[in-house]
Amino acid sequence: MSAAERIEREKRLAAEAAAEFVEDGMWVGLGSGSTALYLLAPLAARRLSIRCVATSPATSQAARALGIEVVSFAGLEAPAHLDVAIDGADEVDPAGWLVKGGGGAHTREKAVAAASARFIVIVSANKLVDRLTPPIPLELSEFGLAGTLARLGSAQLRNVTHSPDGGVIADYTGEFDNPGALAAWLSAMPGVVEHGLFPPDLVAEVLVGRGDGLERIAVSGGAPADRRPV
Ligand code: A5P
Repeated sequence: MSAAERIEREKRLAAEAAAEFVEDGMWVGLGSGSTALYLLAPLAARRLSIRCVATSPATSQAARALGIEVVSFAGLEAPAHLDVAIDGADEVDPAGWLVKGGGGAHTREKAVAAASARFIVIVSANKLVDRLTPPIPLELSEFGLAGTLARLGSAQLRNVTHSPDGGVIADYTGEFDNPGALAAWLSAMPGVVEHGLFPPDLVAEVLVGRGDGLERIAVSGGAPADRRPV
């Protein structure tokens, strides 16, 4: 088995395990990317009565093609609570910080993760890193873009279409040691719609495919109500 085949197998193992966490009657957030796509077939095969929101048009289309009910997240009334969301990641550090957005869907992915009582991350073992590294995906407002890029300093526009919400997809390329400090700086910057650093308090657990097996890392991010500052 080649290294590439092993990684795909590990992604599939993690996704298949995550499908077992979904129960009848749940509201489910479906992530984006190749690992999240592996979730759809085993989920559809369980023939549960569930309603899903998708983090990208690609996921929505793939889920519906398998008979999974996908509803509009924008159309849900408050509190738009989801029981569980399942998504991949580009990097996971030992504290449970994630980098997401390799596919440019991080704004919707973070909104869906934040709405979920339990956010489960599914990755192949190569996604576990000692420390997060750039690039950090960004979604930027088109309005004032030149000024935002100047304030960011180290950022590159990605040669991709705008997000489904009209944002410009870019990457922060500067070096950093402290993901929390970088996340706070990016979140506070005018013109930055969203960034791809996901804090551990969003993450309930990480399911890692490794070889032929599965590792389960508890991160234990709180439920949405527990995340409010006091
Ligand atoms: C999509 O915008 C991303 O956040 C993906 O979830 C992430 O890049 C992981 O993608 P793969 O599962 O394809 O590695």
